Amino acid sequence: MDAKLYPVSQDWARRAHVDEAKYQLMYERSVKDPEGFWFEHGNRIDWFTTYSQVKNTSFGGPGSPGEVSIRWFEDGVTNVAYNCIDRHLATRGDQVAIIWEGDDPSESKSITYRELHDEVARMANVLRNRGVGKGDTVTIYMPMIPEAAYAMLACARLGAIHSVVFGGFSPDSLADRISGCGSKMIITADEGLRGGRTVPLKANVDAAIAKIGGVDHVVVVRRTGSPVEMEPARDVYLHDAAEQVTTECPCEKMNAEDPLFILFTSGSTGKPKGVLHTTGGYLVHASMTHEYVFDYHDGDVYWCTADVGWVTGHSYIVYGPLANGATTLMFEGVPTYPSVSRFWEVVDKHQVNIFYTAPTAIRALMGAGEEAVKKTSRRSLRLLGSVGEPINPEAWEWYHRVVGDGRCPIVDTWWQTETGGIMITPLPGAIAQKPGSATRPFFGVVPQVVDAEGKVLEGACEGNLVIAESWPGQMRTVFGDHQRFIETYFSAYPGKYFTGDGCRRDEDGYYWITGRVDDVINVSGHRMGTAEVESALVAHPKVSEAAVVGYPHDIKGQGIYAYVTLMSGEVFTDDLRKELVTWVRKEIGPIASPDLIQFAPGLPKTRSGKIMRRILRKIAEDEFGSLGDTSTLAEPAVVDDLIANRQNRA
Ligand code: WT7
Repeated sequence: MDAKLYPVSQDWARRAHVDEAKYQLMYERSVKDPEGFWFEHGNRIDWFTTYSQVKNTSFGGPGSPGEVSIRWFEDGVTNVAYNCIDRHLATRGDQVAIIWEGDDPSESKSITYRELHDEVARMANVLRNRGVGKGDTVTIYMPMIPEAAYAMLACARLGAIHSVVFGGFSPDSLADRISGCGSKMIITADEGLRGGRTVPLKANVDAAIAKIGGVDHVVVVRRTGSPVEMEPARDVYLHDAAEQVTTECPCEKMNAEDPLFILFTSGSTGKPKGVLHTTGGYLVHASMTHEYVFDYHDGDVYWCTADVGWVTGHSYIVYGPLANGATTLMFEGVPTYPSVSRFWEVVDKHQVNIFYTAPTAIRALMGAGEEAVKKTSRRSLRLLGSVGEPINPEAWEWYHRVVGDGRCPIVDTWWQTETGGIMITPLPGAIAQKPGSATRPFFGVVPQVVDAEGKVLEGACEGNLVIAESWPGQMRTVFGDHQRFIETYFSAYPGKYFTGDGCRRDEDGYYWITGRVDDVINVSGHRMGTAEVESALVAHPKVSEAAVVGYPHDIKGQGIYAYVTLMSGEVFTDDLRKELVTWVRKEIGPIASPDLIQFAPGLPKTRSGKIMRRILRKIAEDEFGSLGDTSTLAEPAVVDDLIANRQNRA
């Protein structure tokens, strides 16, 4: 492979925390002596009681398949909010912790570490007065406003476990996620505001609670000020409740392995699972990667464009940056409002140095042309980052040349909700970049490429990506279902963590993620289980069967392609197609909208009744010339009909 190579510049090698030689040394030590390495680096956060144990982890394996157990720093005692706030007060109380940029360009504000302390302490007291304490779960359903970060940190302060649900999810999806972790407390806002449009967050919460019950308290942040229904015994506005409390709120003493948060994420089967992250190891990993990968130095302004509803927002808007005493920018809006120059205008307005976004945003803005970028300065930018899906080399080059003026390295960071933090990435002062490659493992990460039988491949190769050793930020379990944790991640390749991704390693040892190899699709960097979309479709009274696959989409990376079989007597119309799209949006949320729906009189199945997705994927990709072996089909004729009526034609 003769991929283009972007070497590390002299400047970068000099200024960065880590140059190439240091990366080699640190990486080698981290995998040869993980105990020693993490004993030292665990100290980057403050502990109330320091740890004597560092790593106590088992991925089970052929001899002990049931015994998956992951513990880091297990006798250490700390608190995440203390590390993200209190420990900075003496030295940087007046430094800006959060720059908030509103949806409307005329709205922005800065919150210092001292102000952050007071806001978080007040919110924590409001929660505590309503019965929230250590080990309780709290659901957060919020727009991108500072109160979202306050809510997370308030939970951390009290030792409560938060579950943030993305504000784009429907009432039904929210309801599943509330009951999935048994929250009795919900924190939300009256409405969200994105791209000039409002999102009825409080009304969605009401609808979710009407469905499942069991919620005792709803704390409502006033964002737009629109009137919303308030249930007097249950609901309270934050600004009213906060008046009644002080800014004194001690940090609960938390064991390193006490849960910090749950984040529901889609898998290849069943309902979304609650990924559980704990306290000490997670914060060490999130803060260390934030410092080294983004080469964060004191005084830098750092902006990650993710939403706090996803893990990227947890680790790289809130926890990593704040643990490092950084200035983190939080953006309420969208890249295209009021114009396609918005990102770059925000960069100039706040003099952003480090900018971290997703390939889908880059591709969308690339489509809008260079002029919208070039009319802004962007001279403050020093480093660019990418996350969420493989970045195609064309988008990488555009990001580098147009956005970064050829001056800024790009860190293409591979990781997952489950990994807690970045796993494979260039370090900007140490590792030459190849457009499209996530390059090399972070400290302590041991990636391997395996074939279908689990044989570990050496040298340049292609196969499935597994991680052979535990790392501190790793998820600990599926909330309430440890067996599902073991089955999902440790059964395909016993003794190893299976990522669900395919991967190639080149002759330089660089990793190239090729995408999911399971029934998960990646739409605009958001993870979607095909099974979830299918069950939403079959819940429609006119649908008897549905099969969903991904197909290449210019902007979203993957689009959602649905094959739908109707109940007998129903007819295919354009109206029904539209109705099904609306239906799925309502059932799950706009991110799950099918891009293409094909009405299928029959689906290709094996004689035992299993849908042959491989064939459906090929047809959706408009690659039906290479369907492979179809000899096991029960009714080969259905394939001809599907090909004839395919929706994605080049
Ligand atoms: C999946 C995880 C990690 C935060 C955002 C997504 C894909 C993520 C990259 C990248 C290639 C990537 C993988 C992974 N992915 N980053 N830099 N290059 N693929 O988190 O929703 O848990 O999704 O996103 O397929 O498995 P997530």
